[in-house]
Formats: sequence, structure tokens, C-alpha cells
Amino acid sequence: MIAIYPGSFDPITNGHYDIIERSCKIFDKVIVGVAYNSEKSGLFTPQERVEIIKEVFKGNDKIEVDRFNGLLVNYVKERNIKVIIRGLRAVSDFEYEFQMALMNKKLWGDVETVFMMSSENYMYVSSRIVKEIFSLGGCIKDLVPEIVRVHLERKLREIKNKQEGRL
Ligand code: COA
Repeated sequence: MIAIYPGSFDPITNGHYDIIERSCKIFDKVIVGVAYNSEKSGLFTPQERVEIIKEVFKGNDKIEVDRFNGLLVNYVKERNIKVIIRGLRAVSDFEYEFQMALMNKKLWGDVETVFMMSSENYMYVSSRIVKEIFSLGGCIKDLVPEIVRVHLERKLREIKNKQEGRL
């Protein structure tokens, strides 16, 4: 069975990584779906996020990385996907996730949302917090795959160079 793990992944963290790895043990194929979220201005472009995730899971043929615009259920219908995977970190995630799962079900009755509890180590991780820590010089070693750290370094350098060029 094919499942999709959708998110903004700006960037992918070890929390996401953990959910994807565990999902691979349950499903035949896991599509990591990078969504374009117009309400969140990203550090990385959606295409960059796709490339980074592909690098992280290079060699794992159970994982496909793709991006989608618009409604998740439209993508799900198009690809004949039956399961949406979401991770739950804390009780505070629950209400939002519950609303999304019910709404997706209402929009497309053939899809089920499966929730996976986040591993203890990643309960407190989010992409925003990783970016904040890194940009302020903190250590993110245990929070993201090494490849992501390298891309963050490159991205911040690019931004800094651009800003200096403007001065
Ligand atoms: N470990 C670590 N961090 C996690 C995590 C985990 N297991 N699960 C979620 N997060 C973090 C993310 O890093 C992100 O952090 P940020 O806010 O600092 O960037 C945050 O939690 C939100 O998670 P994410 O999975 O990125 O969800 P999202 O809210 O950005 O995206 C979509 C949700 C993309 C699935 C949803 O908006 C969507 O389906 N969009 C398409 C349009 C649509 O169909 N809308 C109708 C929905 S009913």
C-alpha cells in the first residue's frame, strides 16, 4: 500500500526523518509530499526542499519525493493514495491535526489519515526552531541530518552575501 507523508519540510528535520523511516516498515511505498503553503514564506524553495529530501534518502527505493500545489486530496486522488501519514508530537498538535484529518476525509472519503506518535527525542523539534537555533549560532547536530546542516549553512551564506551586496 502507498502512503503519503505531506508537509512543508522547510527543512526536513530528524523528527520528520524518524516518522518516514518508521512508515517505511509499515507501507510498501512512502511518498514524501512537499506542499507549497502560501501562508508560510519559506527559507528553501519547494524544489530545493525536494532535492534535499532526495539526498537524505538516496538509495532507499521505498521512498519517493514529490511536490504538490493546491489541495492534498487532489494529489491523493490523482496518485490513488489511500493513506495520509501525520506525526503527532504533543497534545497541542492534536486539534489542528484532527481538523485536517476530518476535512480531508470530508473532501475525499477514500483516504484515511494514520497518526504516528513522534519519538520522545523529537517531541520538541520543529523546522522553525531549527532555523532559529542555527541562524543564532547554536548546535543542530542532533536535530537534522548532516546534509540539511550543510544546506542551511549554504543558504544562510547566500542570504548574507546578498545582504552585504546591497549595502
Ligand atoms: N517532527 C518534527 N517536526 C515536525 C513533525 C515531526 N514529526 N511534524 C511536524 N513538524 C513540524 C514541522 O517542521 C513544521 O514546523 P514549522 O511550523 O516550524 O515549519 C510544523 O511542525 C508543521 O508541520 P508540517 O508537517 O510541515 O505541516 P504544515 O502544517 O506545514 O503542513 C500540510 C501541513 C502541508 C499537510 C497541509 O497544510 C496541507 O495539506 N496543505 C495542502 C493544502 C490543503 O489540502 N489544505 C487543506 C487541508 S484540510
